[in-house]
Amino acid sequence: MSDQTAPSSTDQTLANLLKEDRRFEPPAELAAAANVKADAYDAARADREGFWAEQAERLTWDTRWDRVLDWDNAPFAKWYVGGRLNAAYNCVDRHVEAGRGDKVAIHWVGEPEGDTRDITYAQLKDEVSQAANALTALGVGAGDRVAIYLPMIPEAIVTMLACARIGAPHTVVFGGFSADALASRIDDCQAKVVVTADGGYRRGTASALKPAVDEARTKTDKIEKVLVVRRTGQDLSVDGEDGWDDAVDVWWHDAVGGASTEHTPEAFDAEHPLYVMYTSGTTGKPKGILHTTGGYLTGAAYTHNAVFDLKPDTDVYWCTADIGWVTGHSYIVYGPLANGVTQVLYEGTPDAPEPGRWWKIIQDYQVTLFYTAPTAIRSFMKQGHEIPDRFDMSSLRILGSVGEPINPEAYVWYRHVIGGDRTPVVDTWWQTETGAVMISPLPGVTAGKPGSAMTAIPGIEADVVDDEGNPVPNGSGGYLVVTSPWPSMLRTIWGDDDRYVDTYWSRFKKQGYYFAGDGAKKDDDGDIWVLGRVDDVMNVSGHRLSTTEIESALVSHPKVAESAVVGASDPNTGQAVVAYVILRNEAGDGGPDIVKELSDHVRKEIGPIAKPRQIMIVPELPKTRSGKIMRRLLRDVAEGRAVGDTQTLADASIMDLISAGQATSTED
Ligand code: WT7
Repeated sequence: MSDQTAPSSTDQTLANLLKEDRRFEPPAELAAAANVKADAYDAARADREGFWAEQAERLTWDTRWDRVLDWDNAPFAKWYVGGRLNAAYNCVDRHVEAGRGDKVAIHWVGEPEGDTRDITYAQLKDEVSQAANALTALGVGAGDRVAIYLPMIPEAIVTMLACARIGAPHTVVFGGFSADALASRIDDCQAKVVVTADGGYRRGTASALKPAVDEARTKTDKIEKVLVVRRTGQDLSVDGEDGWDDAVDVWWHDAVGGASTEHTPEAFDAEHPLYVMYTSGTTGKPKGILHTTGGYLTGAAYTHNAVFDLKPDTDVYWCTADIGWVTGHSYIVYGPLANGVTQVLYEGTPDAPEPGRWWKIIQDYQVTLFYTAPTAIRSFMKQGHEIPDRFDMSSLRILGSVGEPINPEAYVWYRHVIGGDRTPVVDTWWQTETGAVMISPLPGVTAGKPGSAMTAIPGIEADVVDDEGNPVPNGSGGYLVVTSPWPSMLRTIWGDDDRYVDTYWSRFKKQGYYFAGDGAKKDDDGDIWVLGRVDDVMNVSGHRLSTTEIESALVSHPKVAESAVVGASDPNTGQAVVAYVILRNEAGDGGPDIVKELSDHVRKEIGPIAKPRQIMIVPELPKTRSGKIMRRLLRDVAEGRAVGDTQTLADASIMDLISAGQATSTED
């Protein structure tokens, strides 16, 4: 890995990982009855398209495809060419038609205690049909985009499926994002309807959402209608305005509640756009990752079945991700529902009203498959095992992890304290762009190593390569690549084919590899250890944030002249945002509250997850002679290390100034 791009803590990480020799064999019973066995790897390798054709048979197609993959116009893929299907029909109706209408699809758990709702597949079908009719009545047709800005309530799933049912691609914007972030996403994909709620419950209080949509409407003129779920019943007015515009706003309970439960799903082309999910890249402008219907749904359903060894008749599944991220799309909505599972959906935070809330939910609903993120596991580790120990979690049989590398200690704690040493832990590597899990142990096959995502699952081909694109030998590090196309791959960046080709397919153009932006290492057995991003993208609590996006937010503050943001390793969140800021002359020293002011500003511009852990006011930034900021050096300071090689700096004394300033820097 080149020194310029790789985090400088990589060598140390590598050395630590090399010492990891614990192995966890799959439980014998699980192995014997596993959905996917060891032979699947070879079978898939021998006939990849045949393998993926078989996986697509999990779905119900209106018209069968006549060609599995069209890669003639690479990197623009078409999967299941000529096939037609309806994603919502596959996630809902077909289970009802098969006689499973009374099966619970969703055990919804609201944050306020006792606020629960069980929704069967038959009820889900009725609600999705009603919402589909209501959206149609609001003027949404096939191909129109709908933005969804909702808390974790059943209506979020219902809306996504209703959109899919009428062929209107949805773009779900995380409820923690600000009005600005919402507006820029709506603008980019030109969504004409927004579905939101008055608010949702977070840590015991009703937190408003609708005012952010109203604010977004002052920043974009694309929004024609706003459909509003009444969740909290809170007052919508802000600053004396009543917060309701009769020409635009419509209550969900009127529009959807009053709609017919009859709706005939139409079949769409396998390549019909299913959704756009925005994610951070190396520039300030978020990328609208486009997923289409047949390949995506095949990938989500197959991986959910294989990686969690799903037994739909007996398992109770729970993924704690928010619906606003890709994990919520693939592993709450599309994969699990296509597979006909019973799952838990929880609205609130893990500590509301008490720190054992998650474990109580597992106990109450007898959850068997549980999927969460390392950042959550680490925060529970900090609170100690006494809290989870109070609950009976013996129903659990498989635990999953996603979003960032899981450090071996967190993995072992998760397996031991939550899984009672019975449960395999599947560390699943994938991305918004890949749509579905790519690298992961198979719980009935793989002897897991704490900290390793192990190998590409059957049907997927990944490798670790050097600068020239040659596979590195076992025991070495390099860049993580996917070496052949896969059904749930992104099709493009919404409205920007060039950026799609540039970002993912230009680094290893000669080989035709997809470059994921991650560094990785192959150990002596050839198993993969993902080390984190090699570009200017941070991973904070399992969420990707772009350094440039936060820098732009800081520079938009009137007191700021220039800024540089780096991701510094953090014991709780994986990485944390550290910002270096040069103030404008006329701002003087910025005043006593400058750090809080800037921090609040980032929060307003992007959202609370982007809030810097630390903001340092500095006189200069370290730059090369060509003016490129040397983030490597800033990372050294942020992580409290001796500053590395400063030879290429235009002015080497700058790092002394910044390091000295470190001692007096302010933390928010
Ligand atoms: C980036 C993708 C996948 C859904 C949630 C995040 C990091 C993800 C792992 C893992 C090491 C991981 C990578 C990747 N990442 N899973 N198991 N081990 N790193 O989706 O926001 O698209 O972020 O998250 O850096 O590139 P995302």
